[in-house]
Amino acid sequence: MPRAPAVDSPAGWRAYYRWTAKRPPRELLRQLLTHLEWEGGTRRRRRAVDLGFGAGTDTLELLRHGWQVLAVDGQEGAGRFLERRVPPRLRRNLTIVIAPMEEVKLPPVDLVYASFSLPFCPPDRFPKLWSGVRQALRPGGHFAGQLFGDRDAWAGQSRFTFCRREEVLRLARGLRVELLRETDERGRSFRGPKRWHFFDLILEKPRRPA
Ligand SMILES: C[S@@+](CC[C@H](N)C(=O)[O-])C[C@H]1O[C@@H](n2cnc3c(N)ncnc32)[C@H](O)[C@@H]1O
Repeated sequence: MPRAPAVDSPAGWRAYYRWTAKRPPRELLRQLLTHLEWEGGTRRRRRAVDLGFGAGTDTLELLRHGWQVLAVDGQEGAGRFLERRVPPRLRRNLTIVIAPMEEVKLPPVDLVYASFSLPFCPPDRFPKLWSGVRQALRPGGHFAGQLFGDRDAWAGQSRFTFCRREEVLRLARGLRVELLRETDERGRSFRGPKRWHFFDLILEKPRRPA
């Protein structure tokens, strides 16, 4: 039988985009958007970065909710996938950048969204990436996304980043933790059965430093 391509190879990601393109927007994003819309606030168009946007479903959801989005992904295939899916009326609010996310200087934003993408940054580059995420958040801005835990089935892969709960708490220091939810369960990835261990996070940068 032919071997499946590596999860993070271009062919592996293309298979992932096909697998996820029809899924609805992620529950974590919907929860955050509902919360922010309920909160109301600013009249200016809100700006978001979507790091590792993949098939682009959540980028589209942000655009539909009126956000201006900088969508970053390392794969040309992701860019082509998303471009085909964006309705013309939403295009002017979208900028796509194809580059390693840890190398992109992020502009000031109201939301850094990173759904199942930060863990694919190699551990030696992760501190720079995380510091860029924190810096990009405007006061009152949010981070939402996931970090992989150390009991995840992929935890042996040295090119990905995995965190223990204490490390997650350390990364969140100085930000207000609105959600920290740990999942450790048997489930599926697009490659078959898999043990998932990850942390869902919603963090807010305080309007005034504590
Ligand atoms: C598991 S997918 C998640 C996609 C989407 N956010 C979702 O929730 O379905 C991870 C995405 O991150 C991208 N990615 C992985 N490492 C990256 C890096 N260092 N810089 C930019 N994008 C990266 C991959 O190309 C892929 O599209």
